[in-house]
Order: sequence, then structure tokens, then C-alpha cells
Amino acid sequence: MPTVLITGANRGLGLEFVKQYADAGWLVHACCRDPAKAKALAKLTGAATILHELDVANARHVLGLARTLRSEAIDVLINNAGVYGGEAQTFGKLDGTSWDETLRINALGPLLVSQALVDHVARGGRKIIACVTSKMGSMADNTSGGAYVYRASKAALNAVGVSLARDLAAKGITVLLFHPGWVQTDMGGKSAPVKPKDSIAGMRRVIDAATAKDSGRFLNYDGGALSW
Ligand SMILES: NC(=O)c1ccc[n+]([C@@H]2O[C@H](COP(=O)([O-])OP(=O)(O)OC[C@H]3O[C@@H](n4cnc5c(N)ncnc54)[C@H](OP(=O)(O)O)[C@@H]3O)[C@@H](O)[C@H]2O)c1
Repeated sequence: MPTVLITGANRGLGLEFVKQYADAGWLVHACCRDPAKAKALAKLTGAATILHELDVANARHVLGLARTLRSEAIDVLINNAGVYGGEAQTFGKLDGTSWDETLRINALGPLLVSQALVDHVARGGRKIIACVTSKMGSMADNTSGGAYVYRASKAALNAVGVSLARDLAAKGITVLLFHPGWVQTDMGGKSAPVKPKDSIAGMRRVIDAATAKDSGRFLNYDGGALSW
């Protein structure tokens, strides 16, 4: 049975990743920062979908999860958890308060999780690390400015992902960076054009087909190449 580990699995894209991989017969390690409040996720848990407490910005949690999983293999690690970083992100309105936390969650979190679980992924058959980043982290795509904190955090995650791709190539690990689309979630809002089920189905298809030559690529959820 192939195994996937998903961060931020209690709602939005993370929850949809859990549903689709569980339906496809995978063993799912579903991680969220507050299991007591994860009602929708709790309904999906059972022998093949295991709930773990994980705040990706908390190094102690991350190391604890790696210890809990001991010698298990993870075929696909999905760094999905993320935050927007609050509304005070337009020039002239910035107060700087969300900068540290947003960069810690969106960029450092995926790096710490990948570092702690690298041996688990190396033991897996597929050896994939997928990071859910955003076109908002692209310089080429930035035609509208603003969103300083979120854009900087996803640009940092893109840099992290490319370094991971280089550093982990020798272990046979493929690192993918995904823009999931503008998706109907708490973060994306109700007017977003893409439904979670289509975004996740697309990313799963790309993950299934990925090979080592895709490592370090920045991809749309449908597999199209994106500019940095
Ligand atoms: N939706 C879009 O249009 C869109 C577009 C581009 C990129 N993305 C990216 O896609 C990913 C998923 O977003 P979404 O749309 O599903 O957003 P969402 O509905 O707001 O869900 C975010 C998830 O991340 C979790 N999370 C936040 N901080 C965390 C932390 N420190 N540790 C562990 N989990 C944490 C949240 O948990 P809590 O419930 O505990 O807060 C929640 O499960 C994010 O990385 C986001 O930046 C989304």
C-alpha cells in the first residue's frame, strides 16, 4: 500500500488530498496542528488514515513526528500547510507583525518537515516531495504588486524547493513545486474559479507521472510549466 503524508490536512486543499488519496487506497498520514478541532478530518480517520498533531513551524513537533514514524516509508510527502499572513499587506498599511510567522510557516515549515522526513521519503518507492506554493511567489507573474508578506513567503518556499531538489537528487528524491490554482477554500474564497477536487486531482496526476527530470520544476496544478 503506497503511503502519503500531508500537512495542513484538516481543511481546504489538505483535506481534499486526504479524501482522494484515501479513496485511491493509500495509507494516509494526515497532519494538522489542532486534532481536537479537526472534525471533518476525524470522520475520515481509521486504520488507513492516521491523524498526527503537527504545527509545521514547531521544530519539536516536526522531530516528534519523524520519531513516531520511526522506520516507515513515505512515498509522497506533501507540504501543503500555509497561511496568507493577514490583510495588512498593502504598501502604506504594513505593520510587519505577520512577517516572521508567515515566513516561518510557509517557507521554513516545509524545509524542516522535509529535512526531518528525508529518510522516510528515501525509503519510499516513489520518493516525491511536493510543496504547495503559489504563483504569488513568482517574480514573472507579479504584475499587480502588494501582498508583500505572502508573496515573499512563497518566493522563499520556491527557493527552498529548488535547493531541496538539488540537495536530494543523489537520494533519488524528486521535489515538485505546485501552484494549486486559485481554489475555493477558506484562503481562496468562494469566488475562486477552481474547485478543490479538480485542483487535487490535477496535482495527483502530475505527482503520479513525475520523474527525476521534473525535480525542481514550478508547475501549475494541471502540469503546465510556470515562470519563476
Ligand atoms: N486556495 C488558493 O487559492 C491557493 C492558491 C495558491 C496557493 N495556495 C496554497 O495552498 C495551501 C493550502 O491552502 P488552502 O487554500 O487549503 O488554505 P486554507 O483553507 O486556509 O487551509 C490552510 C491549512 O494550513 C494549515 N496550517 C496553517 N498554519 C499551519 C501550521 N503552522 N502548521 C500546520 N498547519 C497549518 C491550516 O490549519 P488550521 O486549520 O489549524 O489553521 C489549514 O489546514 C497553502 O500553502 C496555500 O498557501 C492556496
